[in-house]
Amino acid sequence: MIRINENYSKLAASYLFADIARRVGEYAAANPGKPVIRLGIGDVTEPLPPACVEALHGASDEMSRRATFRGYGPEQGYPFLREAVAQGDYAARGCRIEPDEVFISDGSKCDCGNIQEIFATDIRLAIPDPVYPVYVDTNVMAGRTGAAAGGRYEGILYLESTPANGYVPAVPGEPADLVYLCFPNNPTGAVATRGQLEAWVDYARRNRAVILYDSAYEAYIRDPAVPHSIYEIDGAREVAIEFRSFSKTAGFTGLRCAYAVVPKTLNAWDRAGKPQALHPLWNRRHTTKFNGVSYPVQRAAAATYTADGRSQTRALTDFYLGNARLIREAMARLGLKCVGGDNAPYIWVNVGRDSWEFFDLLLTRAQVVCTPGAGFGRCGEGHVRISAFNSRENVEAALGRIGAALGRA
Ligand SMILES: Cc1ncc(COP(=O)(O)O)c(C=O)c1O
Repeated sequence: MIRINENYSKLAASYLFADIARRVGEYAAANPGKPVIRLGIGDVTEPLPPACVEALHGASDEMSRRATFRGYGPEQGYPFLREAVAQGDYAARGCRIEPDEVFISDGSKCDCGNIQEIFATDIRLAIPDPVYPVYVDTNVMAGRTGAAAGGRYEGILYLESTPANGYVPAVPGEPADLVYLCFPNNPTGAVATRGQLEAWVDYARRNRAVILYDSAYEAYIRDPAVPHSIYEIDGAREVAIEFRSFSKTAGFTGLRCAYAVVPKTLNAWDRAGKPQALHPLWNRRHTTKFNGVSYPVQRAAAATYTADGRSQTRALTDFYLGNARLIREAMARLGLKCVGGDNAPYIWVNVGRDSWEFFDLLLTRAQVVCTPGAGFGRCGEGHVRISAFNSRENVEAALGRIGAALGRA
C-alpha cells in the first residue's frame, strides 16, 4: 500500500498568498466598479533592463544556428556566469569566492528549499519569526519538526524579530545547528549591521552550526556601512552558505535565475564526528536533481555585470526604492511607525492592531492590497508588509486612497 509523506499534513492548511488572493477575488467580484491596487505580493512590475533583453536576443540567435547551438549546459552553470558572479559580486567587495563555489540555479526559492536535503533530519533549526515561509515549510516537509501548535512548530528555535530588537534577532543563548538569516529582510525590510553579522558568524563557529544567508534583496542596500554579503565577515567561509537571486535585482521573476555559494572551506559533521565538506554534497545534489538554467537566461544574467547592465539594474532598484520612500513618508504622515524601505523594497508597518483586520480595512476602504504580518509568523501580528514593487502611478494612487481612507493624510 502506497502511503503519503505525512509530514505534509503538518503544514498550515493554507498558503498566505492564496488566502489573500481569495479575499481580494471575493471583494473584486462583489465590487466590480472599484479597481484594486496590489501592494501585497512581492513581484516586480517593470520590464527587463535593455542589456538583458539584448543578451537574450543574441543568445536566441546563437541557438538558431547549428554552429553556435547549445544543448545541455553544465548543471552548475556556465563558467562565464560563475566567473562574473565571483568577480562582480564578491571579489569587487573584497570577498574570496571561487567561480566553482557558485552554483547557478533557477531561483532562490528552490535553493533555500532544497539545501536542507544535505543536512541530517535530527538537527536543531533556528528560524526567524516573521519569516519568508519557505524555510519553515520545507523543513516541515522533510520531517524536521513536530506538529504545529499555536502557529509554531515543535522543534524550531524561533528567532523573534520585534520592535524591541529593531527586527534583527540577537544570537540565542542556546545552540542550534542550522540557522536561517535573511538580510535585507523579507518581510521586515530590516538590514543587519556588520557587528550583528559578526555575532552570528561567531555563534555559528562556537556551535559548529551552518548559517543559510538569504540575500535575495542585496541589490537594494544603499547604506555604505551595511554588508552586502555574509562573506564580508571574517570566518564566514567556514560557516555560511549564501543565496542570491536575479529576480529582484534585475526583474527576473519570470525569467528565473539565481545562485547559491557553497565555499569549499565549509564543513558539517558525520555521525562519527568527522568533518565533511558540504561543497561536494551540494554539487552531488545539484547535478543529480537539476539540469541547468537555460543558456539565453544565463547570458541575460551575465549581462547585468556589464557596465550598461550595472547602471540599468541600479536604475531599476533605485526606481523601486523611490516608491518605497513615498510609502514610508505616507505612513509617517499617518502617524504609523515603520521600518524597511531604505535598503529594501518592503516597508514593515506597525499598525498596532490585528493584521488581517488592517488588511480588510485597506481593501474595503481604499481598495489597496497589503500583506498581513501574521501570515509571516506570530511576531508579524500587529504589522503589515507593503511592497514597493509597482508602477509609480499605482503607488501614488494607492497612497492617496490610503490617506483618504484613514482620514489623516
Ligand atoms: C527572501 C526571499 N528569498 C528568496 C526568494 C525567491 O526568489 P526567486 O525568485 O529567486 O525564487 C524570495 C522571493 O520573493 C524572497 O523574498
